[in-house]
Amino acid sequence: MRQKVVLITGANGEMGHGLIQVLSKQADTNIVALDVVPLDRALRNLVSTYIVGDVLDQMLLGRLVVEHEIAIIYHLASILSTKAEYNPETAHRINVEGTLNLLRLAVEQSQWQGESVKFIYPSSIAAYGIPTLKDKAEAGAVVESDWNFPTTMYGCNKLYCEHLGRYYNSHYRQLAADHDGKQTVDFRAIRFPGLISAETVPTGGTSDYGPEMLHAAARGEEYNCFVRPETIIPFMVMPDAIKALVCLAASPKNRLSKFVYNITSFSITAQQFFDIVKAAFPEAKIHFAVDEARQKIVDSWPECVDDSAARNDWDWSPDYDCERSFEEYLIPAIRKRYQ
Ligand code: SER
Repeated sequence: MRQKVVLITGANGEMGHGLIQVLSKQADTNIVALDVVPLDRALRNLVSTYIVGDVLDQMLLGRLVVEHEIAIIYHLASILSTKAEYNPETAHRINVEGTLNLLRLAVEQSQWQGESVKFIYPSSIAAYGIPTLKDKAEAGAVVESDWNFPTTMYGCNKLYCEHLGRYYNSHYRQLAADHDGKQTVDFRAIRFPGLISAETVPTGGTSDYGPEMLHAAARGEEYNCFVRPETIIPFMVMPDAIKALVCLAASPKNRLSKFVYNITSFSITAQQFFDIVKAAFPEAKIHFAVDEARQKIVDSWPECVDDSAARNDWDWSPDYDCERSFEEYLIPAIRKRYQ
């Protein structure tokens, strides 16, 4: 008999690390981890199988279906916002065609299993695009349907994949003669703010100035923060982000009024980030050296998001506010890591 599994793509990334640690503690959870690079050794004994491969490799995905009964897909693989701007077309292929391949795999799996397959998708504040700083200040906490005009390839990809997910959930092959209206993909997405992990450093994002500043300070390295001190966006620590993914996946479908939910924890400026880091690591050598192009991207992201739908529908609430994030999680864990 084929084994019932949870498939995680992008398993070796920042979210993958956090998610594998949490899911592996749940009883009866078999994890199949997929990533383009070999899975971190520390995670290998927490998963049933890890596969080195690309979400664009249709043969590989086909083989996955043969060998496993996939009940839930956490599709985390993605090229982040800064990296995507260096080769937008390649990023589009990975971010959009990769998602399409996984959605297709979910449909196929659900047909074999006779029940819908959950598809959990991390979207981002990058799906928003606010044209000016005046608009950003006036917008305050934005709701999911507002300001959907992303300025990055990554943001466009995320917004479009949210729509793809909705389509596969509700309208897939709507004109086919054998279309029975049965749901096959149970699509659920979260728009995450900038994420900060104590265990890993991000690669290729534009909210990275926060976590990079912190990790550099703990390592005693010099760091040039690429945005102005007054720059503000929402952030969240990784344990809360993982909690959100797992909570949304576990929510009864009939409680969900949306496919895509904002969530947030705390909004702080780069200066506030600097002050907290400096207080914890007084020797830190952090300077502000603005990269205007990356600044523009961060300026287009909201300073805060309205997460009341997530709070109402699936009882979302972060465990870590700003103070607790730094004092109880980030600073002690990062200190220990680089000791
Ligand atoms: N944090 C991501 C980035 O900066 C956004 O999802 O690209």
